[in-house]
Amino acid sequence: MSSNSSTLNVEDRSVELPVKHGTIGPSVIDISKLYGQTGAFTYDPGFTSTASCESKITYIDGDAGVLLYRGYPIEQLAEHGDFLETCYLLLYGELPTAAQKADFDYRVTRHTMVHEQMNRFFMGFRRDAHPMAIMVACVGALSAFYHDSTDISDPQQRMIASMRMIAKMPTLAAMAYKYSIGQPFVYPQNDLDYTSNFLRMCFAVPCEEYKVNPVLSRALDRIFILHADHEQNASTSTVRLAGSSGANPFACIAAGIACLWGPAHGGANEAALKMLEEIGTPDRIPQYIAKAKDKNDPFRLMGFGHRVYKNYDPRARIMQKTTHEVLNELGIKDDPLLDVAVELEQIALKDEYFLEKKLYPNIDFYSGITLKAMGFPTSMFTVLFALARTVGWIAQWSEMIEDPSQRIGRPRQLYIGSPKRDYVTVAQRG
Ligand code: CMC
Repeated sequence: MSSNSSTLNVEDRSVELPVKHGTIGPSVIDISKLYGQTGAFTYDPGFTSTASCESKITYIDGDAGVLLYRGYPIEQLAEHGDFLETCYLLLYGELPTAAQKADFDYRVTRHTMVHEQMNRFFMGFRRDAHPMAIMVACVGALSAFYHDSTDISDPQQRMIASMRMIAKMPTLAAMAYKYSIGQPFVYPQNDLDYTSNFLRMCFAVPCEEYKVNPVLSRALDRIFILHADHEQNASTSTVRLAGSSGANPFACIAAGIACLWGPAHGGANEAALKMLEEIGTPDRIPQYIAKAKDKNDPFRLMGFGHRVYKNYDPRARIMQKTTHEVLNELGIKDDPLLDVAVELEQIALKDEYFLEKKLYPNIDFYSGITLKAMGFPTSMFTVLFALARTVGWIAQWSEMIEDPSQRIGRPRQLYIGSPKRDYVTVAQRG
């Protein structure tokens, strides 16, 4: 589409709708005045054809399998950059100079501790609470602890809230994990880099010295880069919608975490590993492929398919490489789950059903195997996703708040309930 307007006929009316063009990617038809001009809404459940905003942050070409953060290909960032540099890029739009990077790393590091009273907040959870439940609650609760950064009209407060969340997410995530296994919380150690610090908070115990494995730290850092942003996905749209009402940033990110938890979204990494465990051995794969193809069976291949990627998810390729690196480093020669995953991928990629529907492995297909090998329980997988996605949510939320045309998000509906009718008293109801 290259023209600047498009004509739409609605019943007996014809309206000219402006067409807007982005830098790259599909153009959009601006329908914001459609209701005023025709009295009709558009209908797009699941938003398959709807652009909800303008954004300069992340670009995906789902057919070509391309993912760019601020224009930079994910492959290059994952290979050469580190997670905090990616955070800077997503937040500010440019890669930092050495001085800017040092300053940013320092600022994040200064906020890694959480208020000591948060420790008591944890005690209210049952031991077997899912760490995602704890994360939703604790991140929302940050707004009760940090009143000085909840005024969204103040750019300085917005910046401090952003720093706080990026810095405290690993601390809270590690606390959720430690609490679930009955070990004492480990305080952050600020001379470590972001990801090494997180590994230490998860796996150190007070009675032993803990040495961070640099290969694992680098691998996890790369996993964080892969998860940092993904344009207007369900959780990001949730954050934007929550933020559009003027809610404070901690509450908005808590809403994003809640949305991410679902198995169709961030919960898929946990579900994918459980599926591989359930399949167990390569000889059982055909039976699961058949289940996935059966219209009457709700089973889906977890870690397969994507709303936007109709090609191999570029993050999945990097993740697959990272899985091999981590298993090599840990001396895991034969991982039965990896055997099942590799075979399952090969079979699915040759199967007519998956080819026709363009279902390819997504980022969650291999991430579970990697995280499990590093020592994380399955219940922590989505927490790690939330940790890394926090910066994306914040960048998108900030972009929205700074947009002068921003208004509350308020979709409409096609009402299919009863037309107006009169109340009938209980005695008169048949
Ligand atoms: N296994 C089997 N069939 C599938 C799968 C799958 N994993 N995914 C989609 N299909 C089929 C689906 O049954 C449908 O068939 P039909 O047209 O005959 O009804 C067709 O493919 C299109 O599926 P859809 O549900 O309409 O597609 P969607 O864009 O609404 O859903 C998805 C995308 C990611 C929710 C879906 O592919 C899925 O449930 N995948 C498994 C869960 C998963 O791995 N999620 C992680 C996504 S990546 C990380 C993230 O974003 O959080």
